Amino acid sequence: MTERGEPKDDALPVGLRYLPGRLDAGSRRRLLGEVLELVEAAGWFRPVMPGSGRPFSVRMCNLGRLGWISDIRGYRYSPVHPGTGRPWPPIPEALLRLWEELADYPHPPECCLVNHYRPGARLGLHQDRDEEEFTAPILSVSLGCAAWFRFGGRRRRDPTRRLLLESGDVLVMGGPARLLYHGIDRILPGTGEPVPGEGRINLTLRRVTVPERP
Ligand code: SIN
Ligand code: FE2
Repeated sequence: MTERGEPKDDALPVGLRYLPGRLDAGSRRRLLGEVLELVEAAGWFRPVMPGSGRPFSVRMCNLGRLGWISDIRGYRYSPVHPGTGRPWPPIPEALLRLWEELADYPHPPECCLVNHYRPGARLGLHQDRDEEEFTAPILSVSLGCAAWFRFGGRRRRDPTRRLLLESGDVLVMGGPARLLYHGIDRILPGTGEPVPGEGRINLTLRRVTVPERP
């Protein structure tokens, strides 16, 4: 086993790209500062499970034209913040550039979901499938505390493994890995860059709509 908790020679599923340390300390600090300034101005929201109304342990915000939300009526994308009714702040330039470099997809992302995990927060195993466009990958950036990321296959019952995601790590789920089940088991408080309010910030860039053909 390595530091990161997985046997070194155990290949990742096709389409899952793991780029440890992709962002250096300066980029991590700048990005965290920029994202938190935008999010603090827009306001966090606490999603709840459709049906039961049980709150998530993760608080969220979005950047971009569309934001992912979850309330009693279901999961969906919305052009406005559910608490304030205002449009989401723009996606920072540095994230758009990262998408251009890594997404292998010719159109920009429309959503950056910002998740804040405080100690004790987790995210159950799920697929990202509320988008219309599945040929674009999901690009995830981890900042702050490290976290155990769990992933499996395209069926909920497929066996799962875990990967330690640390501040500055980037993960791309594309192609056959676009619909892998994944979640966060727990975060490791006290590691990585300090985040105001403690914990871990995860950014996921998504293309939501299918671009019109020229
Ligand atoms: C997500 O699946 O929305 C976030 C995953 C993560 O926090 O790494
Ligand atoms: Fe997800």
